[in-house]
Amino acid sequence: MAPSPATKARLLEGKPIADTMLSAVAAKVATLAQKPTLAVVIAEGNPASELYVAKKQAACKKVGINSLRFDIARTETTAKLLFLIRKLNADPKVDGILVQLPLPKQIDEDAVIEAIDPQKDVDGFHPINVGRLSRGDEDAALVSATPKGIIKLLESAGVDVSGKICTVVGTSNIVGKPVAYLLTNRKATVITANSKTKDLKAVTRQADVLVVGVGKPGLVRGDMVKPGAIVIDVGTSKLANGKLAGDVDFEAVSQVASIITPVPGGVGPMTIASLLDNTLIAYERRRKK
Ligand code: GUN
Repeated sequence: MAPSPATKARLLEGKPIADTMLSAVAAKVATLAQKPTLAVVIAEGNPASELYVAKKQAACKKVGINSLRFDIARTETTAKLLFLIRKLNADPKVDGILVQLPLPKQIDEDAVIEAIDPQKDVDGFHPINVGRLSRGDEDAALVSATPKGIIKLLESAGVDVSGKICTVVGTSNIVGKPVAYLLTNRKATVITANSKTKDLKAVTRQADVLVVGVGKPGLVRGDMVKPGAIVIDVGTSKLANGKLAGDVDFEAVSQVASIITPVPGGVGPMTIASLLDNTLIAYERRRKK
């Protein structure tokens, strides 16, 4: 087999940075008399959610955070789930509440998110936390885990986004919008692209830092990236062959970019580490009051 051409971009792996974060959380947790507790709510029948929740709970165990799992039926009503959320809000032993999304379609997802005590909202999805983030008051907010992990990844690579053009492809509440806020708070010039963007290539080509979180494998081709750009791939799509794929054509883009994250092993581990960091923050803040 012919040798593959040397890739140009530096691979920015999340695992080592996530491990450093997890070690810091574990060291802190080890000093606490009472361990933090994360309540995880999961709807049955979604294999991807099962996998994510298993990873999150395994990471909790590793760092000494208690995790409690609450399974809800596919046929669950909004009212019943709200009852559970209120019970968890009122439980002094519970420091963080995570409702794994998506929820079954009969459930009012917004009502559930808004019912979570913002102080226990370790996903950072509650409007109060999103509002604080959007106002630049990150210290008072709980910042959602994937966006927080992306910023930590960039920082670990020594990337200062101030003054840089950062294009965010995707405007989801979980990734695109909060990433755009975090970058704006750091004085980046932020462009957000969505499914109606007329000339995607024109906006991705401008980016010094390109963050892509859409869920469409191969969306970003080599010719859509500015030479030397930093590319963060948040996509995680399961292919027919069972492999995970990002949104970026890794082979082509790594010939053009200066730094690129792999899928899997890039942003994913950072999400989990940031979630546990948020759980510790939530624990500490509630006890300081
Ligand atoms: N579904 C996909 N990503 C996430 C996440 O970060 N948090 C929750 N709760 N659900 C998700």
